Amino acid sequence: MKDDIGEVLFSEAEIKNRVSVIAQKLVVDYKHKNLTIIGVLNGSLVFLSDLIRQMPLPVKLDTIRANTYPGTSTTAAAETEIVHNINVNVKNEHVLIVDDILDTGKTLSEVIRLLSEYNPLSIRVCVLLNKRARREREIEPDYCCFEIEDKFVVGYGLDFDNRYRNLPFVAILKDGITIASKTI
Ligand code: IMP
Ligand code: MG
Repeated sequence: MKDDIGEVLFSEAEIKNRVSVIAQKLVVDYKHKNLTIIGVLNGSLVFLSDLIRQMPLPVKLDTIRANTYPGTSTTAAAETEIVHNINVNVKNEHVLIVDDILDTGKTLSEVIRLLSEYNPLSIRVCVLLNKRARREREIEPDYCCFEIEDKFVVGYGLDFDNRYRNLPFVAILKDGITIASKTI
């Protein structure tokens, strides 16, 4: 697996430091508030599990899963399908959505639209990475560990064809990597 990896953008130590800074911010902002954290599967898994263990607050935890299909940039809702919904009641809760990356913004804007129908007290977004250059929806993260350029990255939860999520760092894949007939 190591042979497929190009430049490491964020090392394990850098990520650890940044995650703990963001966790401390969250602890200040959500102290004395009812907080439900909702992780977006599968990409948020690694970030989510490190983040919540740095937050000594009585948070509730749940997950949601959305599939976003590549398509035209004009029809938002039709391109994103929620395939696994939350199971907790968020009506009297502040909601924090956690995801691996804010890219085009299609996935998270649809997740926000759906969750707002349950009338939570507030909704904020926390991501590991922000790839602002590719944005197609008006959405910005409230909490973000790192800004990145328009490069395809893997590791620390992010995948290519469901692989590389378990790398402890974030890196660019080498050109020409082929898995299951996809080439990057
Ligand atoms: P969206 O384009 O903001 O809706 O992002 C949808 C999903 O695409 C993200 O949650 C990631 O799972 C995935 N994604 C976007 N950019 C990358 C990348 O550079 N590497 C791996 N997955 C990515
Ligand atoms: Mg994802």
